[in-house]
Amino acid sequence: MTRIKPQPGIMEIAPYVGGKSHVEGVSNVVKLSSNENPYGPSPAAQDAVRNSVHQLHRYPSTDHAGLRAAIAEAHGLKADRIICGVGSDEVLALLCQAYAGPGNEVIHTEHGFALYRIGALSVGATPVEVRERERVTCVDSILEACTDRTTLVFIANPNNPTGTMIGMAEIERLAEGLPPQALLVLDGAYAEYVDGYDGGARLVEMRENVFMTRTFSKIYGLGGLRVGWGYGPQEIVDVLNRIRGPFNLSSTALAAAEAAVRDTAHVEQSRASNTRLRAWLSEALAEHGVPCDTSMANFVLARFGDAAEAEACDAWLQSQGLIVRKVGSYNLPNALRITVGDEASCRRIAHAVGQFKAGAR
Ligand SMILES: Cc1ncc(COP(=O)(O)O)c(C=O)c1O
Repeated sequence: MTRIKPQPGIMEIAPYVGGKSHVEGVSNVVKLSSNENPYGPSPAAQDAVRNSVHQLHRYPSTDHAGLRAAIAEAHGLKADRIICGVGSDEVLALLCQAYAGPGNEVIHTEHGFALYRIGALSVGATPVEVRERERVTCVDSILEACTDRTTLVFIANPNNPTGTMIGMAEIERLAEGLPPQALLVLDGAYAEYVDGYDGGARLVEMRENVFMTRTFSKIYGLGGLRVGWGYGPQEIVDVLNRIRGPFNLSSTALAAAEAAVRDTAHVEQSRASNTRLRAWLSEALAEHGVPCDTSMANFVLARFGDAAEAEACDAWLQSQGLIVRKVGSYNLPNALRITVGDEASCRRIAHAVGQFKAGAR
């Protein structure tokens, strides 16, 4: 037995399992397991990637000034308060590194995104899971769980994998009720799918205990390049920049994200298509006896009678070349998370679930 041991907490982390992308023996699969944009990135972002090859011998920018200015312009924010990371995952990890450690508690909700627990354990802090109300974030349970050791509270709004969200008044009540040493992190990975929602940006500007994270992996269709960002109080952004790797983002990733955020038409088309097809898909699934909560994101959480039925439906869908996401690791064994794809994929999923419910196995 080796005497070289990892820090306390690390071995409690179950390795993250991403969405499946292959099915043995089935070609031509439709991948609806990772909440990716079915239309891919903006053509302008693709051009930026191609053009970036001419500068690959140069180190990338360390301050991300170009990308931060583009984000600030597109979202009406202050560029100095933006920090960019290798996916929003990195920004979430930096927050844990800077604000949590042994003896601190990090709150997340019952079916909250997996990285919150992983981030807390990776720095030796204690993750505290609080109950939701029917798969919706419950502000009262969060406030009840706060102690003088709570330093971070993570909520995704809309949440993954439930797709549900809470309103701004509830978020404000949460921020107002937190103990003074705690920071509220609003994870807005799916914020762009909600028409008129700023992800909590205005609240960040009004308060010193709210931080927002966002990503280029979802509506911008750039999951493969790994770019995310955070928006927070100046002091907190300055703290995170001290521990961020100076060259964390490649020049290709920076150029693509900058072009993507400027292409607002692509975002609008993706949002409109998602809104229409999400409603269609939820209704079609409900007609087959598979209910979903009202989702505000680019996926639906389809609920089956029990875990065995969800498992059997997943196997059937795979046999039909349709890959969705099992969410047993999120304590939702009787559900499957299905990304809203393009129209053809939504039709295929609805048809296959209908066949399954009619007895096909
Ligand atoms: C709620 C939520 N937050 C954050 C992320 C991380 O995204 P990324 O690191 O690709 O920006 C995801 C990805 O699935 C997510 O669902």
